[in-house]
Amino acid sequence: MGTEPGMKWRRRMFSDSASGLGIGNELAYPPRHRTTCRVHHVIRLKPKHESHLQLLKSLKNKHGEQMEFWRKPTIPLQDVDVRLSPEVIPGILPLLNESGLLYDVMTDDLESLVSAERPKRSVADVVDVTESPDNFSLSSYHTYDEISDWMDGLIDKCKPDCDVFSIGDTYEGRPMKIIRIGKESVRRPVIWIDAGIHAREWIAPATAIYIISKLIDPDKSDRIARVLASRYTWYILPVANPDGYDYTWTMDRLWRKTRSHHKYSPCRGVDGNRNWDFHWGGEGTSDLPCNEDYRGDEPFSEPETRNIARLVFDEFLLTLQGRLAVYLSLHSYGQYWLTPWGYTYNVPPDYPDLVHLGTKATEAMRRTHGSRYQVGSSARILYLAAGGSDDWAKGVLGVKYSYTVELCDTGRHGFILPPHYITTTGDEMLEATRSLSLSVLRERRRAARKRRRYT
Ligand code: ARG
Ligand code: ZN
Repeated sequence: MGTEPGMKWRRRMFSDSASGLGIGNELAYPPRHRTTCRVHHVIRLKPKHESHLQLLKSLKNKHGEQMEFWRKPTIPLQDVDVRLSPEVIPGILPLLNESGLLYDVMTDDLESLVSAERPKRSVADVVDVTESPDNFSLSSYHTYDEISDWMDGLIDKCKPDCDVFSIGDTYEGRPMKIIRIGKESVRRPVIWIDAGIHAREWIAPATAIYIISKLIDPDKSDRIARVLASRYTWYILPVANPDGYDYTWTMDRLWRKTRSHHKYSPCRGVDGNRNWDFHWGGEGTSDLPCNEDYRGDEPFSEPETRNIARLVFDEFLLTLQGRLAVYLSLHSYGQYWLTPWGYTYNVPPDYPDLVHLGTKATEAMRRTHGSRYQVGSSARILYLAAGGSDDWAKGVLGVKYSYTVELCDTGRHGFILPPHYITTTGDEMLEATRSLSLSVLRERRRAARKRRRYT
């Protein structure tokens, strides 16, 4: 297996020589925590007023990488999640206490969460009960090579009703593999699902994989899955950022961006969800290559976003206008079902329809395992961020039902979601997708009836 990926993660995150907790801070920090020194914390803050937001923003500028905002400060009363490196904890927590800025410690030991996420592969794991046809466990996370091999293995099983192919190479030369499920026919509407454009959001690819396996090999009793595979053509891209994903396995579990180089900066990567050619460069994007939300030096600067856009254009838009009925992009975390727009607080004219079907989909999720999802436009319920794929799908392609789903959880584990959440999240997303696709079929049927009546 070569090197143990978890080790590398630890090396990078814990190798600096800054002092641990407690040193010179006897009173500032409760003794209980001193035994867990040199671990990263994730805290959730509740800024009450503008001054709290200002404080957070100034800390953000001052501490750079050591204070990583997983949910950024936006408006008062909106939660903010931050990962704190061990060196800055003794300085920052007292400061927060003084300012009256309340916070909860979501985890005071991020490292053990990360190692729990990738248990040693045991025999028991390989013969897991929730497994897809070829012993590929659906209840653990997989490396890009494993996913890629698994996808290749699917071809023989499902042809001619499905196909697996590469839509082009990544910056580092990995093939981006996609699966088509359902016959290719001009008359069939298309549902698109991509996942993992942000590398560290592991639950997203895992959920896409779960959906693929349930669509191509539905449980015996699952009549609806068969119907869906027969009414739609599905295109599912489970890992939209393979370079970044691989990097999260080998070097830095919390990497978000692609892995491209930049001319004038040593920092690498572009935020794949700020790189799309629709209001590119607007609010909530950065022009600094070292930032997490770096938009790239031009729209579609990244081969990954370009490959997707080219495929979508060639297959469905230029030739088959209007086939793309649903665009879904899977992310984590927060449990949000997001609609356009992300680039402005305004909403599209058909926003009520998007919210209506989004609400039905999230109700289906709630009925499945009880999770609650919030529905609304990205800008309104999360934050402004331009150049996202969902905005592009709606704004440029005209896909009516374009959504970004921020999967489980709401922050207890955040990006480091333990593997036992995979099947429940998968079930929920499958139910949501089912609800959405049935609603869209109904809507299309109604529209067709109307057209017949009036023409
Ligand atoms: N967390 C996602 C991101 O930051 C949300 C994207 C929502 N869509 C949007 N167009 N802003 O990329
Ligand atoms: Zn994301």
